[in-house]
Amino acid sequence: MSGAAALIVHGGAGSVAEDTVRARLSGCRQAVEAGWAVLMHGGSAVAAVESAVVILEDNPLFNAGIGSPLNSDGQVELDASIMDGAQGYAGAVAAVKRIKNPIRLALRIMQDKRHILLVAEGAERFAISHGISPCDPRDLIHPSARRRKPRYGTVGCVAVDQSGRIAAATSTGGTAGKHPGRVGDSALIGCGTYATHEIGVSCTGMGEAIIHVVLAKTVVDLMQPGVPIQVTAKHAIGLLAEKTGDEGGVIVANNCGDVGYARNATHMPVCWVRDGGDMVTDI
Ligand code: GLY
Repeated sequence: MSGAAALIVHGGAGSVAEDTVRARLSGCRQAVEAGWAVLMHGGSAVAAVESAVVILEDNPLFNAGIGSPLNSDGQVELDASIMDGAQGYAGAVAAVKRIKNPIRLALRIMQDKRHILLVAEGAERFAISHGISPCDPRDLIHPSARRRKPRYGTVGCVAVDQSGRIAAATSTGGTAGKHPGRVGDSALIGCGTYATHEIGVSCTGMGEAIIHVVLAKTVVDLMQPGVPIQVTAKHAIGLLAEKTGDEGGVIVANNCGDVGYARNATHMPVCWVRDGGDMVTDI
């Protein structure tokens, strides 16, 4: 099937100062440009979401990759996941301390097909044996990490390529001061990330609450023919608020090239582009 390409990125739900949100929005634009370039050169949705999320992981303004908050031991521990809706394959990593771009490692795990989720040292050993060099854990610590408040978002991307295939990806450093080994929704397929032939979802917000309502899969399950995906995204965030009293956000895209997003946090920088359209942003 060929269809309208689309790509949407989020830079995390939370309550932060307006200038910080605007700076993150600019980072989201750069991520969309990178992912969209992949799609416009005929690349796959999987390659596009990887490209976009790597840009966000490398930007210390975001809670992902370099710039992530520290756990209670003063270390960065990263989670990420990716799902290819066309194939139904997924890959994920959790609690890695020596991987600069965990989304790349999640993709390698997906491509390898033997596993879905690898954690900590075992995931790092897999990385080394699959050509991803480990970094010094200190290289992931940005000076701003010591000032971070406990609650703020993560990053993610959903893309639809020119063949109508969908992929979703999410990456995070989790919550500041978290217990070592704590894993949030971003590493869990169905919670932080999900994709099918029809729709892809990436979530942000408090991981424990998102896991509680299996948010990404819930968005997919709530989809109904004729109901705009924006309405469904809002419905899902309503359920998150009702069942957990917590904050979060979702981005979605479907195989018609429609995009949607919803949040109940104060801000969630989002940026998207669709075939034939200009880049659009919101906070
Ligand atoms: N949503 C990211 C986390 O709670 O880990």
